[in-house]
Amino acid sequence: MSTQSATRKVCVVTGSSSGIGAATARLYAAQGWDVAINYSREPAPAEEVAQQCRDLGAEVLVVKADVSSDADCRRLAAQVQARWGRADVLVNNAGTTRFVPLKDLDGLQAEDFQRIYAVNVVGAYQMTRAFVPLLEQHPVAAVVNVSSIASFMGTGSSIAYMASKGALNAMTVGLARALGPKIRVNAIAPGLVDSPWLRNGLGEVAYEKAVDSYKQRAALADVITPEDIAQAAWWLGVGAAKTTGEVLLIDAGVRITRG
Ligand SMILES: NC(=O)c1ccc[n+]([C@@H]2O[C@H](COP(=O)([O-])OP(=O)(O)OC[C@H]3O[C@@H](n4cnc5c(N)ncnc54)[C@H](OP(=O)(O)O)[C@@H]3O)[C@@H](O)[C@H]2O)c1
Repeated sequence: MSTQSATRKVCVVTGSSSGIGAATARLYAAQGWDVAINYSREPAPAEEVAQQCRDLGAEVLVVKADVSSDADCRRLAAQVQARWGRADVLVNNAGTTRFVPLKDLDGLQAEDFQRIYAVNVVGAYQMTRAFVPLLEQHPVAAVVNVSSIASFMGTGSSIAYMASKGALNAMTVGLARALGPKIRVNAIAPGLVDSPWLRNGLGEVAYEKAVDSYKQRAALADVITPEDIAQAAWWLGVGAAKTTGEVLLIDAGVRITRG
C-alpha cells in the first residue's frame, strides 16, 4: 500500500488517457487527490496523462482495463484497493460509438448496439459494482457518469450511441436510489466537446463544419472543452452534497439555442 498520507483522497477515472477523462484526472490531481488512470488500448497516452498528474503532485496508478469486461473492472478495483485501500470518487467516463448517419437504419446492426451498450452502459454498471465496497467507506463518496446531450436531442454519432446514453441516464437514477444514502450518483451530459472523439470520428473537415454549426446555434456561441466537463465532474464528485440522481446538461446553451 502507498506510503502517502492516509488522508489523501482517491479518484478513479475510466477512459482517462484522452479528452474529458484526462482533463478530469488532471483536475482532481491539481486539487490534491491521487488518481487512477484507465485506458483499454495504447499505454503511451495514458502514461503521458499520468506524468501530468504526477507533475501536479498526485500519486498515480495506471491500469489497462476494458470496462466491458467484468473481470477487468474487478481487477482495477483490486489494484486500487491494494495501492491506496480507498476510493472516494468514481468517474465512469469511458465510452465508445460507431458513426452511422441517423437515416441509415440498415447501417446499424444488433452487434453495434451490443458493443456500444457493453461499454457505455454495462461498463459503467460493472465499474460501479466493483467499487461500491471501497466507495461506501467514505462520507463524500460519489459516482459521476459521463452521458451525452445525444440522449436528450436525438443527435450524435448514431442511434445506438444516443440510446446507450439514454440508458445510462436511467441507470444513473436507479443507482442513485440503490446506493443512497452512502453514495451519490449523478451524470453529466456534455454537448459538443473539443476532444479527439469527434475529430477522429468525423475527420477534420466535417469536424470543423460541426463546430461552426454548433457555435452558430449555441446561446453561448461556443463548444465545450474537456476542462469544462472536468469542472462539472469535480463539483458532482465533491461539492454537490445534496444532489443525486441528476443528469446535468453542459452544452453552452445549444438546447435552448440563441435568441
Ligand atoms: N467528445 C464529445 O463531443 C462528447 C460529447 C458527449 C459525451 N461524450 C462522452 O464523453 C466520454 C469521453 O469522451 P472524449 O470526448 O473524452 O473521448 P476520447 O478523447 O476519444 O477518449 C475516450 C477515452 O475512453 C477510453 N476507452 C474507450 N473504450 C474503453 C473501454 N472499453 N474501456 C476503457 N476505456 C475505454 C479511451 O482509451 P482507449 O482508446 O485506450 O480505449 C479514451 O481514454 C465518452 O463517454 C463520450 O461518450 C463526448
